[in-house]
Order: sequence, then C-alpha cells, then structure tokens
Amino acid sequence: MYIHVLGSAAGGGFPQWNCNCDNCHGLRQGTLKATARTQSSIAISDDGEQWILCNASPDIRQQFEQFSALQPARAKRDTALAGIILMDSQIDHVTGLLTLREGCPHQVWCTPQVHQDLSQGFPVFNILSHWNGGLEYQPIALDFTPFSIPGCPQLQITAVPILSNAPPYSPRRNNPDRGDNIALFIEDLRSQRSLFYAPGLGQVDDYVASWMQRADCLMVDGTVFHDNEMQLAGVGDKLGSEMGHLAQSGEHGMLQALSAYPEARKILIHINNTNPILNEDSSERALVQAANVEVAFDGMHFEV
Ligand code: MLT
Ligand code: MN
Ligand code: ZN
Repeated sequence: MYIHVLGSAAGGGFPQWNCNCDNCHGLRQGTLKATARTQSSIAISDDGEQWILCNASPDIRQQFEQFSALQPARAKRDTALAGIILMDSQIDHVTGLLTLREGCPHQVWCTPQVHQDLSQGFPVFNILSHWNGGLEYQPIALDFTPFSIPGCPQLQITAVPILSNAPPYSPRRNNPDRGDNIALFIEDLRSQRSLFYAPGLGQVDDYVASWMQRADCLMVDGTVFHDNEMQLAGVGDKLGSEMGHLAQSGEHGMLQALSAYPEARKILIHINNTNPILNEDSSERALVQAANVEVAFDGMHFEV
C-alpha cells in the first residue's frame, strides 16, 4: 500500500498563527533548523490512483494542491478521493470536510460517537446536508469487523478503539467513551503488509500493544515530547495526558513503548508546535533518531 503524509502537525500546525514559542518564533526568524508542517492527515491507497483520506484537516486545500495524485484531471470536475475515515471528531481532523463541500456527496466512515459529535457540538453532517447529498455516514463498528472502501478494495481496514480524549464540544470531554477515538489497522490483502495508524493515542496498554505487534509500520501520536511541554514552552498549562496524548519521554512514554517493535518501521505524526523534536538540532530529536523512530513531515511518501 501507498502512504502519503498530507499533514504531520497537531492542531494549530507549525508555526501556529498566534504562537511565539521558541519553535514557532525560531521557524519564522529562520534561526531554527526545522520545517513548517500542516495539520494531521494522511492519504492511503492500494494502487496509487484512488486514495482514502484519513482525517480531513483545516489545511486540506493546500494539502490536496501539494499532492498531485489527488487531482488526476480526467474531467472538468474530478478527484481521486475514494472515501474519508475519521479517527475522532477533533477540529484538526474534521474541519476540512467543510472545504470539500463542492464535491459532495462524500462517504465518511466514523464511529457512532464521532457521528454524534459531528451532528451536535460541531454539526458538519447537518451543515453539509445542504450540499448535494452532503456526507454519507458509514458507521464503523467497534467489534473489530474489518471493512473496505470501494475505491481501494485491497485494503482491509479494522478500527481499533483506543483511549485518547473527546473534543471540548463533546458531552464526553474528559470522560471519553469507547469509540470517541480509534486507531486503524490496515492490511494490504495482496502483500499482507500492514500499517497501524494512531495520531491520537493516550495509552499503550497490552490491548493496544497486541495490535501494534502485528503491524509492519507504526505511525503513532507524536504530539508532545514532555507531558508538561506546553508549560515548559510558556504557552499554556494543558498536559499532553489531559489532551489524550502520550508523551515520548519517560519510563512509560512512547519511545519506551515503541522499543518493543524492533522490526517495525516507526514514525511519529501529529506533532505539536511546542515539541522540541521539531528542532532538528535538538537533543530530543537525537534521542528519537537513536531509538530508530522517524519524524513525519508533510509530503512524506512511502510504501508498506
Ligand atoms: C488534539 O489532538 O488534542 C487537538 O490537536 C486539539 C485541537 O486541534 O485543538
Ligand atoms: Mn489533534
Ligand atoms: Zn508554537
């Protein structure tokens, strides 16, 4: 299967419009060895022609323009977009749906919890119902029944409910339900190679580890290096753990968890602008590299 990183940053992007943390300021000044990043989203494909969008970021218009495979130009109005899967109902993962209105209807796979948030707190399903059929809800079951999407029939997709957090406009904020956040286990039926994709992951317990164990490539939550990083950067007091994001550092952190998979390709995605690993000269970035873990960047393109 083909994987294309459309956006590798967490909510806000890098640099964030109102942020002057060392990273955002340094990037603007040109004093930091780092690359700008748009908000978290990937596209996957079994043939390189039809693409499944995993999350729809607020930066989607720019992301589509920068990935020419999404616009094959076979007709006056055209797209290579075969379907959309949502991992959660967070702003940075769903706002791009509004930008896709000109191409409605779209088939959107998501859990009942995400569909509820997107029909109430952030009612994008209701809004887009006024655009040519809008968004067609394709419920994702939480019982590990694999599904496939017509444009990419070789990709067998299993939703893996995980613990992270629900968005602030959800009735389940700070008390997430099973189904508020999912990871995807995606297997190519021809090669049996697989990807585990979890841009929001609060905890790697035995259950999550058992899915990670099966994957050839792990693309996981890279939001913060330190749990209290927003405080350290002087931009807020929210902890990574409060937002449902497991920090890379620490005894039970993401780097430690990833060390259990020496054979897998390991990639961090959804990187917050405060994360010191964005600075390619930082000691934290060196630690990530030494752990044989890659840092996703916009435009990263590879095959699993
Ligand atoms: C999160 O994952 O917690 C989000 O990036 C928050 C946001 O987009 O505001
Ligand atoms: Mn996010
Ligand atoms: Zn910043």
